[in-house]
Amino acid sequence: MPRRRGTDYERLRESIRMEPDGLPMREVNNWTPDKLALLAYYLAPFAKLCHEKAGGWYFLDGFAGNGANDAREGNTYKGSALIGVTMAPSAEKSVLIEKSPRDAEVLRNRCARLRSNASVLQGDCNELAGSALEQFEDRGLPAFCLFDPEGLELDWEVIELCAGRRTRGTPYELLIYFSTPGVMRTASVTDERMIEGDERAMRRVFGNDRWRPIAERHRSGEIDGRQAWREYLSLYEQQLRELGYRYVMSRPSFMGDRRLAYHLVFASSSEAGQNIMEDGFKRAYGQPRLGL
Ligand SMILES: C[S@@+](CC[C@H](N)C(=O)[O-])C[C@H]1O[C@@H](n2cnc3c(N)ncnc32)[C@H](O)[C@@H]1O
Repeated sequence: MPRRRGTDYERLRESIRMEPDGLPMREVNNWTPDKLALLAYYLAPFAKLCHEKAGGWYFLDGFAGNGANDAREGNTYKGSALIGVTMAPSAEKSVLIEKSPRDAEVLRNRCARLRSNASVLQGDCNELAGSALEQFEDRGLPAFCLFDPEGLELDWEVIELCAGRRTRGTPYELLIYFSTPGVMRTASVTDERMIEGDERAMRRVFGNDRWRPIAERHRSGEIDGRQAWREYLSLYEQQLRELGYRYVMSRPSFMGDRRLAYHLVFASSSEAGQNIMEDGFKRAYGQPRLGL
């Protein structure tokens, strides 16, 4: 049998499987474990490298959920927060932010059962990210910041805060699940009653109005939807570079029916980090070829 090339997401999925623990789990779609598998793929060498080179690392999950996912058909997986707090070598400090009081409570329970010293903050990531980052007291340690919102809930200001925290000149690493379809839907709204709120949402996501010319060209028919999402994504990536990230890359993720679900956007200034994530981004078995 010829050797398969690319990242083995089947094996990675296995690595994040967990047995039901009696606590509530988020019901997720079958493709969700792939994004979590990629996180596990990256965090393992990241944690090891940070441990060896800097003596430790920090973990921030801004949209943490309750720590576990039920992908149905009997498959249950660690959520991003649990992947972070169970990673070895373990983080010096993990801060997990979750808005839903119920999910935050479940996550707190899960962390307590694991005897983890993670702080679970219940509330809005955009309001709490600053104080969360303050908990990372040792400025000599690198951090990995994960943001997995459902749509356009993540403010650009939070990204700026993370980029502003530097370890020996290197900004905290970022993995963002960027809702390209959410941006598309929001930017193309023409209903007078919705425009104001949607514009505010776009301004929050990008932190400015640079997205506007793309929306106008899309609305006028000058560019099609595919071109528009490419341009929004490339603007977002460009803005990350402008914050000082040397390596910015993204990978699309598709739903079961091959519609675009979101883009995973990774930003780092570490060459090692870039190499590891580049490997992780290699085409997953069974996933559609990247449409970029
Ligand atoms: C896509 S889910 C995250 C799933 C999680 N990463 C996992 O692997 O299980 C998004 C989560 O963010 C929470 N949320 C929504 N808006 C938020 C906000 N402004 N601040 C913090 N959490 C928020 C939702 O309650 C939900 O649990």
